[in-house]
Amino acid sequence: MSEPMEEIAPPPRLLMGPGPIGVDPRVLRAMAAPLVGQFDPFMTATMNEVMGLYREVFDTDNEQTFLIDGTSRAGIEAALVSLIEPGDRVLVPVFGRFGHLLTEIAQRCGADVHTIEVPWGEVFTPEAVEAAVERLRPKLVAIVQGDTSTTMCQPLADIGRICRDHDALLYVDATASIGGNTFEADAWNIDIATAGLQKCLGGPPGSAPITISPRAVDLIAGRGRVEAGIRDVNDDEDEGFRTGTRIASNYFDLAMVMDYWGPRRLNHHTEATSMLYAARECARLLHAEGVDHAVARHALHGTAMLEGVLGLGLAVFGDVAHKMHNVVAVEIPDKLGPAGGDAVRASLLDDFGIEIGTSFGPLHGKVWRIGTMGFNARKDAVLTTLAALEHALRAAGVAVPAGGGVTAAQAVYA
Ligand SMILES: Cc1ncc(COP(=O)(O)O)c(C=O)c1O
Repeated sequence: MSEPMEEIAPPPRLLMGPGPIGVDPRVLRAMAAPLVGQFDPFMTATMNEVMGLYREVFDTDNEQTFLIDGTSRAGIEAALVSLIEPGDRVLVPVFGRFGHLLTEIAQRCGADVHTIEVPWGEVFTPEAVEAAVERLRPKLVAIVQGDTSTTMCQPLADIGRICRDHDALLYVDATASIGGNTFEADAWNIDIATAGLQKCLGGPPGSAPITISPRAVDLIAGRGRVEAGIRDVNDDEDEGFRTGTRIASNYFDLAMVMDYWGPRRLNHHTEATSMLYAARECARLLHAEGVDHAVARHALHGTAMLEGVLGLGLAVFGDVAHKMHNVVAVEIPDKLGPAGGDAVRASLLDDFGIEIGTSFGPLHGKVWRIGTMGFNARKDAVLTTLAALEHALRAAGVAVPAGGGVTAAQAVYA
């Protein structure tokens, strides 16, 4: 390359899609903090602090609560590859794209995967899940809490009870919902839950908080072994003593990652220090605000956005009673069609610097997804987006009531 490159300078954007969202400036500042060595007392103390902070985020007493380095998908893979042994029966209730992702990952782990489905825009009744659990007797039920592809939030309390009653483990992907919707790992009998920072927690993608119940820890630890090269005389080299088969991934071997975060601090990967700082700041901010307050804030701004799009005369997709607080799927007016829908999104981005989301699978070209989450669950972000959407719709030839969106949202705030 002959010319010197300029320093990176992203355009200013208001990210109002289904995630990632604009990162809280305090999290960006934390990420700029100097690095320390991997076994520096400050590093290990920070790791311990992060474990404590995420126990509050997940609402759990689980000792094994820490971070997987990687995006949310890394957390999902770590949970499933560490729980599932080839041939294990797994049930995935699918109500959107991310249920399909759980199915695919469980299949790659060699599981005997069974799915049940409801149409996109709906959630499961406890009875439907219980009937499937009784019929299939799975070792593991894997389910998403909030599926951004449909905006639905699956109630989990009864599913946890059903799993306990039938001696199945319960895994939950809470990536899109945690911090903006109630999540109670212990009260709901969840065995493993994973998350991400880039939605309601107001951070960047790249770290996946995880929590693991004692009974899941027992199962995973039974599949663990200490890596050659770091074993000491007390570590058994023989794999015969273990209760399960070896975990098929090294990077996502939760038995080894637990040894790394635990008192032995057995070396595994090099912890992503700047992401550790980011995750700490996200959880510190949530703690300072109060989890209940953060959930109520997401409910308020999510309701304002919902009422705002209705006030513009638009229709909302799905069972609104089960919608996540932090994202709404807005039906693209028939008059626009998929190409017109893309043109409105492009106008929002090009003319106003605002990003809203497109959609996947059966909803592709039919809905926009608008998020109000994390740092962007704010009144000014909601009103600005609604004002810009009104303008972009009118420019595209859609008749919209003047000020209808902002007025309806303001009524929620009043
Ligand atoms: C519910 C859910 N699960 C998993 C993911 C995947 O997360 P990542 O892209 O951070 O790996 C997402 C991302 O949108 C999500 O919404």
